Amino acid sequence: IRRIGISTGGGDAPGLNAVIRAAVVSAVNRGWEVVGIRDGFDGVLTPERFPDGGLMPLDADRVRGITHLGGTILGTTNKNNPLRYPVRRPDGTMATIDRTPELADRLKENVDAVISVGGDGSMEIAHALSRLGVRIVGVPKTIDNDLDGTVLTFGFLTAVDFATQCIDRLHSTAEAHERVIVIEVMGRYAGWIALHCGIAATADVILLPEIPFDLEPVARKIAERDRIGRHFSLVVVAEGARPRGGEVSLVPGEPGRVERLGGMGEKVAEGIRATTGKDVRVVVLGHLLRGGSPSPSDRLLALRFGAAAVRTLAEGRDGVMVALDPPDVKYVPLDLATHRMKSVPLDGDTIRTGRELGICFGD
Ligand code: F6P
Repeated sequence: IRRIGISTGGGDAPGLNAVIRAAVVSAVNRGWEVVGIRDGFDGVLTPERFPDGGLMPLDADRVRGITHLGGTILGTTNKNNPLRYPVRRPDGTMATIDRTPELADRLKENVDAVISVGGDGSMEIAHALSRLGVRIVGVPKTIDNDLDGTVLTFGFLTAVDFATQCIDRLHSTAEAHERVIVIEVMGRYAGWIALHCGIAATADVILLPEIPFDLEPVARKIAERDRIGRHFSLVVVAEGARPRGGEVSLVPGEPGRVERLGGMGEKVAEGIRATTGKDVRVVVLGHLLRGGSPSPSDRLLALRFGAAAVRTLAEGRDGVMVALDPPDVKYVPLDLATHRMKSVPLDGDTIRTGRELGICFGD
């Protein structure tokens, strides 16, 4: 290997820059050159859109002082998936085409191997590129922690940390005004963030995509608290939570998969208002959870993933995704992360802890 490329794709997560730094420094230390690909793979698919030609030379100097920064110095996109690249037909309507054969050719012309940092969409692309002969290693990323094959993704703990701090602040104002505050957090297909910040911040109700909910037990919980003199309640709602009868499939590509959600916190709040008559407010944490500086644990995980991706290429292995399998970083097949989202196990210790602490899950 003489030259590698690195790209960041999908929604950003705190820790992307730490992965880039670790990959660049450990590659440079092996005598390799590194280029960053701009905006996912758009840098090589539409280089004319970028003043730097879509490829950014990266050396130890360029990645100095970025470990603690949120976002990604390479840019990212969750719009232009090369497997289903959006194109405008002559009649103005939109269609999608598979641009991975062209992308594979461009990558092979420019670099000897690629590190692709991203979520399930990026791993699906990486898998397709690998079958087209591109030497590629995936690095899993999502704040939602719902990628299969790895115990943890970087960005998740930072999101949980910030959400917990926010709920702590909402606690005192909810109590002072005797209100119910509904906090909506990200988590389209899995409720890891809602579950972890909800338990850590001692929420009263947690609604997850994995447990279809009814409003009746939620209203009962709030009324019980009123009876014992706790005239306020905190309700954490994952954006992908669904009322009973409206379950969403967790399998990508299957009917029922919802690509765009939103407003579930508001809907739950309306329901609570109507059933309890209490004063209810809603706070949507949304993209605040994706911003900011990665926590120390996320920096460490991201640095370990970046170094491991380069290490596996140096050892002659590709077509894999690096994955945390404590205490080590291991390598799993690229397609493992694209088959199924990793949902919260309903009989797991964390849910059981929540139930034993009296938290209502709406079931
Ligand atoms: O990264 C996944 C995620 O955090 C989801 O929980 C959320 O629905 C989505 O990103 C929103 O992404 P965007 O607004 O960038 O499309």
